Amino acid sequence: MTKMTTNDYIAREGKFGAHNYHPLPVVLERGEGVHVWDVEGKHYYDFLSAYSAVNQGHCHPKIIGALKAQAEKMTLTSRAFYNNVLGEYEEFVTKYFGYDKVLPMNTGAEGDETAIKLVRKWGYLKKGIPENQAKIIVCEGNFHGRTTTIVSFSTDPDARKDFGPFTPGFITIPYNNLSALEEAVADPNVCAFLVEPIQGEAGVYVPEEGYLKKAFDICKKKNVLFIADEVQTGIARTGKMLACDHEGVRPDVLILGKALSGGVFPVSAVLADDDIMLCIKPGEHGSTFGGNPLGSKVAIAALEVIKEEKLAENAERLGKIFRDEIRKIDSEMISLVRGKGLLNAVIIKPKNGKEAWDVCVAMKDNGLIAKPTHGDIIRFAPPLVINEKELMECVEIIAKSIKQFE
Ligand SMILES: Cc1ncc(COP(=O)(O)O)c(C=O)c1O
Repeated sequence: MTKMTTNDYIAREGKFGAHNYHPLPVVLERGEGVHVWDVEGKHYYDFLSAYSAVNQGHCHPKIIGALKAQAEKMTLTSRAFYNNVLGEYEEFVTKYFGYDKVLPMNTGAEGDETAIKLVRKWGYLKKGIPENQAKIIVCEGNFHGRTTTIVSFSTDPDARKDFGPFTPGFITIPYNNLSALEEAVADPNVCAFLVEPIQGEAGVYVPEEGYLKKAFDICKKKNVLFIADEVQTGIARTGKMLACDHEGVRPDVLILGKALSGGVFPVSAVLADDDIMLCIKPGEHGSTFGGNPLGSKVAIAALEVIKEEKLAENAERLGKIFRDEIRKIDSEMISLVRGKGLLNAVIIKPKNGKEAWDVCVAMKDNGLIAKPTHGDIIRFAPPLVINEKELMECVEIIAKSIKQFE
């Protein structure tokens, strides 16, 4: 049998898979820490981390160990019965983040959907909003997933076009705009404000310092719940355990996903205190896989790794070095560098018809993989286990790749 090449793998996916992604032409086979290898044996530094899911590094031995041990005992019971692991995880994760209760789900989008249902329920039961009148404030440029309700309040035409009719009950305001929020919360039917502390998918938009704290205070004054979607920014990515920690904000409702399992298994979670969480009663929400023992054990291990290896501290320190070093690259194509911790973006100014995509292809050829978002932005988000020497090597690859277009 002849060995399949990169092009063969790509052609097979193109033939049998739906065309809902446009991947960089690289076929990965193996990963370890910050390193990945393709089917031809070529090595790359991973600067996407599966959209910040693999914060703990690829195939972290402790997380994989937890996966293997639990996989041999019990993988899934459903929530029709108790299992001996879910409670252990619930106690661990609630104490870890400081909330009374957790509602376990699987994907980030499910976490957001859960939060939406939870705050609506709270709005009716606790705030006294008339039936079916609850509203949630969201921000322009948001990304919270791909379900029908979530795309209903997206402002990205690709996410919405021809997917209507949409779910009502959302008020869209500009991101990073406190007066718009102040105006919107005046509506007594508003139950919550849903926000990403940094807009990741939109292109790593970091709001002004103080925005989250002031937004939180505005919500408090009007008895509006503050929901932080930390699916991408959470779990040490931005240099603190949560991006909200930079401003000392404790969200009323916290949504986590991605790196909650170190990218090993789909695990997401919604955390809140009793007054909010107990609004949902048996039979009103759930998921066959949510809270399964396999994901629960994996998540405990993944969260332990974050603290044991001081990954938030590493992200904070190396993030500063990364931004400083990228700003030193002398190229007209780099028009802006922004980010926090190891969630960063570089805005690429096209030159001679060459764009962010071409820079990503050049970086791939030089041994580093990252992905453009919205045409002109490249997100740089390596696993947080990267060390300074590796980071400096990566900066050299990025500089060399951009300079190819000079
Ligand atoms: C902030 C945020 N929320 C939700 C999601 C959706 O997560 P998932 O793709 O696991 O459904 C993402 C994914 O990128 C995200 O960045």
